[in-house]
Amino acid sequence: QLLMQAHNEDRLFHWIQKLCCKMSFSDVLATIGGLTVAFYLLKLSWTCCCGLREYFLSKLWQVNLRRYGQWAVVTGATSGIGKAYACELARRGLNVALVSRSAKKLQEVAREIEKQYGRKTRTIQVDFTEGHSIYPAIAEQLQGLEIGILVNNVGMVYSDCFTYFLDVPDAGQVISLIQIKMTLWTFIFHLLHRKTGLIINISSEAGIRPQPLLSLYCATKIFVTYFSQCLHAEYKSMGITVQCVAPFIVSTKMTNMKVNSFVKSAPEFAHDALNTVGHSNYTSGCLSHALQDMALAILLPDWIRMSSFLIIKLANQAKRIKSERRVCKENLKIKLK
Ligand SMILES: NC(=O)c1ccc[n+]([C@@H]2O[C@H](COP(=O)([O-])OP(=O)(O)OC[C@H]3O[C@@H](n4cnc5c(N)ncnc54)[C@H](OP(=O)(O)O)[C@@H]3O)[C@@H](O)[C@H]2O)c1
Repeated sequence: QLLMQAHNEDRLFHWIQKLCCKMSFSDVLATIGGLTVAFYLLKLSWTCCCGLREYFLSKLWQVNLRRYGQWAVVTGATSGIGKAYACELARRGLNVALVSRSAKKLQEVAREIEKQYGRKTRTIQVDFTEGHSIYPAIAEQLQGLEIGILVNNVGMVYSDCFTYFLDVPDAGQVISLIQIKMTLWTFIFHLLHRKTGLIINISSEAGIRPQPLLSLYCATKIFVTYFSQCLHAEYKSMGITVQCVAPFIVSTKMTNMKVNSFVKSAPEFAHDALNTVGHSNYTSGCLSHALQDMALAILLPDWIRMSSFLIIKLANQAKRIKSERRVCKENLKIKLK
């Protein structure tokens, strides 16, 4: 048998040797070119298949989110993406625990969900910038609930314009928000015990590539992205799914932008993004954002985005916008007087 194998290997070697001798240099180049084109075509087909599943088929085959448990916890649930996730989860049959800073807003959202979707709610008022001391209190208030889903959404921007790192007001507070994502361990314990669960971490398009003048924000977001992907790999065999959602621009208080063909409304975004659960563990959330991500990668490659020329231009524009806003505010004050 060994002799046969050696003989076959010998024949194969001779065949390759003969082929190589017969091939001219241009034949070799053509073969390499053909293989490269085939490789990229295969890659493109694979990306298209994944996109088809993530953004089209997912509308038809939605995962039943109630299979994870009766309750979902949503952080930053009083406005924007968090509120939209909370409402969409309630619409899909889950009770929701709302976690945010302002007690009044929490009550309003809870009432809205109970009235509109007939689900139970619980509100937890915390300020995530206060550090680790808040977690035992959160755990206590969630005791006894069958929690299956956590939407780790809370986040903040430190400026409404592009800003140099040294001009970031209270950078420590921003960094403290990274820790929120790390204190997931309390939830993971709970989900591990139940052998099932879904954690959705909201990252950002700004966390996909380095973005000068948003240095701290994009650094905290890439942390969320890598952290989510690693956690998913570690715990998927134990029944826990960790999904990372990296939206482009959503119309919320944070962005202060109106809905248009590029900017999604928060309810629409949450609806599309929840459809992708079970179909993708890393997603832009909706088709329009996935396409914008691809376009940005082609039209604005790293070497342009990181160039001093563009950074100076953006910083000057941000300065102009800030001063225009200041003048508007002062004019408004004068008019009101
Ligand atoms: N909007 C976008 O275009 C976009 C794009 C990519 C990623 N994201 C990410 O999506 C997430 C939500 O953004 P959003 O646009 O929906 O923001 P948003 O409308 O400003 O809502 C932020 C929510 O977080 C709460 N919150 C803020 N700071 C808090 C703190 N220290 N402690 C407790 N709660 C706090 C707010 O509660 P109060 O109302 O009580 O302050 C509010 O409910 C963020 O992680 C953001 O980075 C957003």
